[in-house]
Amino acid sequence: MCGIVGYIGTKPAAPLLLDGLSKLEYRGYDSAGIALGGKTLCVYKSAGRLSVLEKALYHEQLPQTVGIGHTRWATHGAPTDKNAHPHVSSDGMFAVVHNGIVENYTVLRQQLQHEGVTFASQTDTEVMAHLLQKHYDGNVLAAVQRMVADLTGAYALGIVSSHAPDELFAVRRASPLVVGLCRHGYLLASDIPALLPYTRRFLSLCDGDIAHLTRDGFAVFDENGNAVDRPVREVTWNVDSAQKGGYDHFMLKEMMEQPEAVWATLSPRIQNDRIVLDEFSLTDEQLSAIRRIHIVACGSAYHAGVVGKYVIEEVTRLPVEVDLASEFRYRNPLVSSSSLVIIISQSGETADTLAALREAKARGARVLSVVNVVGSTIANESDDVLYTWAGPEISVATTKAYSTQLVMMYLIALYLGQRLGRLDDDEYHALIDELKRLPDGIRKALLAAPQVKQLATRYTALEHAYFIGRQLDYAVALEASLKLKEISYIHSEAYAAGELKHGTISLIEDGTLVVATACCDRIREKTFSNVQEVKARGAEVLLVVPEGCEATDTAIAVPSTHPLFAASLEVIPLQLLGYSLALLRGCDIDNPRNLAKSVTVE
Ligand code: G6P
Repeated sequence: MCGIVGYIGTKPAAPLLLDGLSKLEYRGYDSAGIALGGKTLCVYKSAGRLSVLEKALYHEQLPQTVGIGHTRWATHGAPTDKNAHPHVSSDGMFAVVHNGIVENYTVLRQQLQHEGVTFASQTDTEVMAHLLQKHYDGNVLAAVQRMVADLTGAYALGIVSSHAPDELFAVRRASPLVVGLCRHGYLLASDIPALLPYTRRFLSLCDGDIAHLTRDGFAVFDENGNAVDRPVREVTWNVDSAQKGGYDHFMLKEMMEQPEAVWATLSPRIQNDRIVLDEFSLTDEQLSAIRRIHIVACGSAYHAGVVGKYVIEEVTRLPVEVDLASEFRYRNPLVSSSSLVIIISQSGETADTLAALREAKARGARVLSVVNVVGSTIANESDDVLYTWAGPEISVATTKAYSTQLVMMYLIALYLGQRLGRLDDDEYHALIDELKRLPDGIRKALLAAPQVKQLATRYTALEHAYFIGRQLDYAVALEASLKLKEISYIHSEAYAAGELKHGTISLIEDGTLVVATACCDRIREKTFSNVQEVKARGAEVLLVVPEGCEATDTAIAVPSTHPLFAASLEVIPLQLLGYSLALLRGCDIDNPRNLAKSVTVE
């Protein structure tokens, strides 16, 4: 879960690499480094944020036009200068940057040590630099192919060598990596947004590919060493969408983009007042064979899945199970050819989610993925893909991607419900009308920002908070609680409101904040009873309710919608609450400690 970049072309590489790394810092930010190619490799690296490296390079003359760079999220070895990438072979001829994990690195390290190699770091990556040196016999590409054959695990790599001063090598194996084509050369990056200032044209590498880039062109080889053609794709994302555009934080910008993002997800799928999911190509026969749906994901995507469970089950009357990918992959799940498995992932690269996908496919299930990043591994490996079209999401704490995942759950529910004959025409059309109003509802919900900011000043010194709700309100409580704790570092838990009294209520005392989500009409009175229970024990209560609802406690009102879609509006002020509290507490909102945007390790 690190960020890697690379460049070969006619411009000085260092500024391009540093700029690319600055856009990838959300993937990890505990150390950074670059290696510039040529007859002698020049390596600069340091622990700490990218700014430390930038400062160190400020007065350097760096004319080299080929290089690689890295921003790290430590897995093997502490975040120190020595463990920072790039890692270099003992003879100084090869430099490597790496994202992923080499699973057999202990064995490889021992073998190399036995052969007399001295290691400079504790990382798994360093074995690759030494292996390149060992396998080199006059052809760097062949050395890369032999080195890769020694590895097991997941890795995206950028490699330069002074044996081949005008060449750059890239490897993609179960970790994201894109090659950008621009007027003055070729660029590598872990993610598309890092390269948007330079190009929108990308070469799609497949799992196991090695790309060999020179200033004059490129060649791609598959895992068997065969030269292959890979398509060049054009993305429509623009540079502004990957920059802050006047906002203080990406998170704030991305929250404010939610009406447009949700509309971008919805609008191509609603045609002539029907839900059209062309990308979900089930025949009637395949559809009627589905006995059970599993939704599998991690983090906020899992929380979107919890919403999906309630909505899809309610509409289709098919049993829906929702699982954390890290649990699903190891629990011998009851999945078969009669199961539809829905995988949700913003990045399309989360290691546990990808493993769960493979597990489901191996058991014969049909896999439909809901993904934001086009051409990501999860998208490539699924039977069907529904893209969420949220645009690039940079802030580690997801907001707009989560919101688009929610509407994708609604679209799937309505689509399946209608095709299975579980929705009558009037209901179906009424729900579609309500869906079309959601972007506007979100826009209105965002108007609560000043009220939420004001309220947050009361809670700045809090150490604990509890979020309670029932059913869909509970699903929102899970996400709201995560949002608060991950960026403000306030300890927070979410509970099904009826469950609180079975233990956790013992933690409620004078002044404890309890946020109650109560937008589901059917169950609101029950939640209000639980609110009374915590108030009786001294809790300070904050309610989230639909407009027009009578509330005696401090409350934020959100626009009304159909109860099935309430999560989409209810979550908005709670995202704002997390943001406002993190801001008041002086936290690093876009890059919270210990986290990364894309978790490509298990
Ligand atoms: C990380 C991110 C979360 C995200 C989760 C799953 O933990 O910080 O925001 O929900 O990964 O990521 P995915 O890309 O699969 O949605």
